Amino acid sequence: MGKKNSPYICKDCEAPHYKFQPKCFGCGGDIIENEVKPKANSVNSRYESMRSDNDKAELVGQVKHSGNNYYSLGVPELDEFFGDGKGIQGNAFYLLYGDPGAGKSTLLAGLSKVVSDKEDIVLYNSGEESKSQVDDRTKRIIQKDSSKYLYLSSHKNVQDILEEVNKINPKVLIIDSIQTIHSLENNGVRGGVSQVREVTDILKDYAKANNLIIFVIAHVNSEGDLAGPTTLEHMVDGVFFLENTNYNGYRRLISKKNRYGITDTTIIWKMTKYGMVSVPNASEVFLKERGDNTVGSSIIPILEGNSSVLLELQALTKESDFNGHPMRNVTGFNRNRLVTLLAIIEKHLNVSLGMNDVYINIVGGFKSDDYSLDLGVIKALLSSYYNKPIGEKIAYIGEVGLSGEVRSIPMIETRIKECKKMGITDLYLPYHNKSDLEKEDTGDMRLHYIKKIIEVV
Ligand code: TYD
Ligand code: MG
Repeated sequence: MGKKNSPYICKDCEAPHYKFQPKCFGCGGDIIENEVKPKANSVNSRYESMRSDNDKAELVGQVKHSGNNYYSLGVPELDEFFGDGKGIQGNAFYLLYGDPGAGKSTLLAGLSKVVSDKEDIVLYNSGEESKSQVDDRTKRIIQKDSSKYLYLSSHKNVQDILEEVNKINPKVLIIDSIQTIHSLENNGVRGGVSQVREVTDILKDYAKANNLIIFVIAHVNSEGDLAGPTTLEHMVDGVFFLENTNYNGYRRLISKKNRYGITDTTIIWKMTKYGMVSVPNASEVFLKERGDNTVGSSIIPILEGNSSVLLELQALTKESDFNGHPMRNVTGFNRNRLVTLLAIIEKHLNVSLGMNDVYINIVGGFKSDDYSLDLGVIKALLSSYYNKPIGEKIAYIGEVGLSGEVRSIPMIETRIKECKKMGITDLYLPYHNKSDLEKEDTGDMRLHYIKKIIEVV
């Protein structure tokens, strides 16, 4: 068996190692210097060097598990978000993307604070901004003048970054952003598809072989997609999207893909002077400005991953000025769904909004085309049309079918819990969810089970 082209190698299983550590992550054997040095600037050398005996076929149950350790950040909501409560997987390779100004750099500076406060080393490499700019921001966010555990660098190529990593041996490496880093082994333009893929590949291989956690920031293009190849998404363990809600500085971090945790979960953040601060009670924030006895406003417990948030949904109907061409204007809601609901209202409630302009808005910059909002949308529309407010502590949830039937919805228990926490007195919900709730303690909250939309008029 030939020796692999890496600076260090395991004496027992010959797995390549790119920085020195006493024991092999694969088999626990001693790490020694490799006599076969990597061939400089050869693209193939990297691939050859990654080949290891760890890759060969083994029987199920006999596979040695390396890198399955989780790194707890000690912040329950982050540990939950990244790894089902366990934290970040020890060699995870994650991608964070979002619009310019969304707060990506700020968020990962905050993560650097969490890790360095635990006295674990972080290397934040920015190819975007100068080191002094990053230094100023970081000091503000960590609220200290210095830290022995947080390093900043501004290398522009991946080989220099990994050399730095070899020197300081961080627990977490942050790359801001992938488009500003190139590989010396690639002739493509910086930020181009081939460079981005190559750099991602090199970093990922390194993370896996050396038990290093890597976060990579990526820009989005004008369509809001990941810049560079969309195949980048398939190369990483997790993809997180940071969205600016344009509502009082609130941001949403959404898990789009996560090999080690649940997807579609969200954390809400507020941008402050000292960086991003998570918002534990999102329902309170988004209902805060809802007036009493407001016309055309309903409360809906929507799902945000495995938890629920109470949102205000607003509807406005008015006689149309555009003869025969009424407006259907939606913010955060699906326009086609609105058109369907208007048809259902006309057919089953005998209320025609054909000559009315209709506006729908989900407050707080949320976007949802979840069908369980149907009942709340219809109720808000009727409230605006009849100019009759819905009570302050009443919520609605349920999908409405074309025959005017109210259909069951998923995770009703989670939504009930949030309604109870927020002091909802009356919840209108699908009759077909009744059997899910037999054991549920709903306290003083009255549950109104609905079979047909006619029952909520
Ligand atoms: P930034 O993290 O630079 O966004 P991105 O890396 O996604 O492009 O920050 C976004 C905005 O947040 C920026 O306009 C300034 C503001 N900001 C604060 O309000 N507080 C802070 O502590 C920081 C660092 C930035
Ligand atoms: Mg940035």
